[in-house]
Amino acid sequence: MSAPTDMAGRPVAVIGAGLVGSGWAIVFARAGFAVRVFDQNAATLAAFGQAVGDSLADLQRFGLVDDPAAIAARMSVAGSLAEAVDGVAYVQESVFERVDVKCALYEQLDAVLGPETIVGSSSSGIPASAFTEGLASRSRCLIAHPVNPPYLVPVVELVPAPWTDAAAVAATRSLMQAVGQVPVTLTREVQGFVLNRLQGALLREAWALFDEGYCSAQDIDNTVCHGLGLRWSFMGPFETIDLNAPAGVRDYAERLGGLYLDIVRSRADPQPWGDALVGRVEAERRGRLPLSGLPGRCRWRDQRLMALAAHKRAMAEETGE
Ligand SMILES: NC(=O)c1ccc[n+]([C@@H]2O[C@H](COP(=O)([O-])OP(=O)(O)OC[C@H]3O[C@@H](n4cnc5c(N)ncnc54)[C@H](O)[C@@H]3O)[C@@H](O)[C@H]2O)c1
Repeated sequence: MSAPTDMAGRPVAVIGAGLVGSGWAIVFARAGFAVRVFDQNAATLAAFGQAVGDSLADLQRFGLVDDPAAIAARMSVAGSLAEAVDGVAYVQESVFERVDVKCALYEQLDAVLGPETIVGSSSSGIPASAFTEGLASRSRCLIAHPVNPPYLVPVVELVPAPWTDAAAVAATRSLMQAVGQVPVTLTREVQGFVLNRLQGALLREAWALFDEGYCSAQDIDNTVCHGLGLRWSFMGPFETIDLNAPAGVRDYAERLGGLYLDIVRSRADPQPWGDALVGRVEAERRGRLPLSGLPGRCRWRDQRLMALAAHKRAMAEETGE
C-alpha cells in the first residue's frame, strides 16, 4: 500500500532521538521517506548516527535491508524543532514518558506545525488527551505506540483522543501500512492500550503462580517461549483457539469456557508486585544472567528478532500472508 497522497514525497519528522526515536527514523527512511530528526540533547544527536548505523549494519547482515548507506543518507539532524517540522506531513514524537515533558513539547509544536501536519506520539501509556486538550492542532494528534525496536516489531497502536479527527487516524493508519508497520486502531482511549493490557494479564498470572510457589520463574518463561509464544509469533489468541477445537472457536468456547471462567474468578483479588516478590524473581533472574550481561542479551534478542523477521518476510513472499 502506498502512503496517503498528501504524505507521499514529503519528509517526516522524528522528535526525540533516543531508543525509540532512532528506531522510528530507520522505519521511515527504510521506506524511502526523508526523515528530519530533532532532540534537545546534543549528546544524543551526536550519538544518533552511530546508533542507527550499527542497527542498519545488523539489518543488512540478516538480509533485511539492501543499502544501509542510502537509508542513512535520507536522515538529517535538524537544528531546532521548527526546522525539523517545517513542511513535514507527519511527526513521530518520542520524547520522555512524562506528562509535563509532553505538554511542554506539544505547546511548542502547536506554534510551529503546518496546518495539515499530523502528530503521532510513541507514548507507552499516557493518553493523548493528557497533553493535547488545549492545542489548536489537537484534532491532528493521536497516539502511535510502537514496540521496541519498531523496525523489527511492526505492530503500532493508534489511539485517538476524544477530539482526534477520524481522518487523521485514517491517514496515520495508511502511512504506517505504507512504511511496513502493522497498525492496530483503537476506537477510544483505554489505560495501557491493547498490547500492554494483554501483556499485563499474562504478567499478573505469572507473578501470582510464582508467588504461590507453583513453579520457578524459568519454567513460567519456558511455558511461553517453548509453548504459547511459538504460535503467537504468527497467530493471535483468537485464531489459536479457533484452530484448537474441531468445530472452531464456538466449539472451543463450549468445551473450555467454564475452565477459563473459573481461572479468572480465582483471581478476584489482584495484588501489587510487592518488593519481596520482585526480589525473589530478581534473585532467580540474576542467578541466570548477571546485570552486566543484560546489554549483550538485548543484542542477542534483537538478532533473534531479525532472524524471525527474515523468516516471516520469506514466508510472506511465499504465501502472501
Ligand atoms: N523504550 C521502549 O521500549 C518503548 C517502547 C514503546 C514506546 N516507548 C515510548 O517512546 C517514548 C520515548 O522513549 P525512549 O525509550 O526512546 O526514551 P529515551 O530516554 O531513550 O529517549 C527520549 C529522548 O527524548 C529527548 N527529549 C526529551 N524531551 C525533549 C524535547 N522537549 N524535545 C526534544 N527531545 C526531547 C531526550 O533527550 C531523549 O533523547 C516514550 O514515550 C516511551 O514511553 C518506549
